[in-house]
Amino acid sequence: MSKIKKCLFPAAGYGTRFLPATKAIPKEMLPVLTKPLLQYGVEEAIEAGLSTMAIVTGRGKRSIEDHFDISYELEHQIKGTSKEGYLKEIRSVIGACTFSYTRQIEMKGLGHAILTGETLIGDEPFAVVLADDLCDNEGDGVLVQMVKLYEKYKCCVVAVEEIPPQDSNKYGVIAGDIIKDENYAKGALVRVNDMVEKPEPKDAPSNLAIIGRYILTPEIFEVLKDTKPGKGGEIQITDALLEMAKIGKVIAYKFDGKRFDCGSVDGFVEATNYFYTKAEA
Ligand code: UTP
Repeated sequence: MSKIKKCLFPAAGYGTRFLPATKAIPKEMLPVLTKPLLQYGVEEAIEAGLSTMAIVTGRGKRSIEDHFDISYELEHQIKGTSKEGYLKEIRSVIGACTFSYTRQIEMKGLGHAILTGETLIGDEPFAVVLADDLCDNEGDGVLVQMVKLYEKYKCCVVAVEEIPPQDSNKYGVIAGDIIKDENYAKGALVRVNDMVEKPEPKDAPSNLAIIGRYILTPEIFEVLKDTKPGKGGEIQITDALLEMAKIGKVIAYKFDGKRFDCGSVDGFVEATNYFYTKAEA
């Protein structure tokens, strides 16, 4: 199977937990310090060697395209001044990869958003980043770690983290058998055999929750086409991945690093404090 080159960013959701801020601004463009969430995700993908960013947008999300483009008027205005430095990072991001876009017309869930991205991905393995899960690690970024794992196991990989039992109804929760691999800590790799979307604590098969980082193989698109709406009436990626897990094609990986749920106000504030403290250090 081929190398991973593309990263899909489902970014069509309404971001209702951030209303009214997200009435006219995409959730993915909300900044932690001075950088939009989506730019953190794109930088993580570039670090992992990916060069094609495929973004699923929706109505009212045009500022995403403008962000990953040149702003001639602004650049002309600040050329030669000390302010030019503020654009250095985004310029290097734009120079390091290409961007393609497609629109999800009806927001029928994350699984549906990923299927909408098929036209940008084609028949090859790819990464998925949910930009509202902001990840940081002192060593290799989470996607770097996952791409390495994919290159070894050649199957779908989902990033998981341990959660308090009472939070199970916010996540897809997995269960499976520990894979013994001398290069990884005991329990860091699990061959998934069960997955449940947002279970009540009493029904959760474990305390391992899927966060917004995936490596998927292109078979997922065919499975998604047959996936019926599940929890909340939405087409769930968890339901499609369960089909792949039944034939042993999904590994869960307890990644190294921190993750902030920037889709919630608490997580967003926590991320802001963390990155502010880190920048000051
Ligand atoms: P979320 O459920 O966290 O995002 O979806 P949301 O629906 O925008 O947020 P709330 O709950 O209303 O506050 C996870 C990711 O999947 C994308 C979202 O943009 C987000 O990045 N998504 C979700 C889509 O692209 N399309 C959908 O139909 C649903």
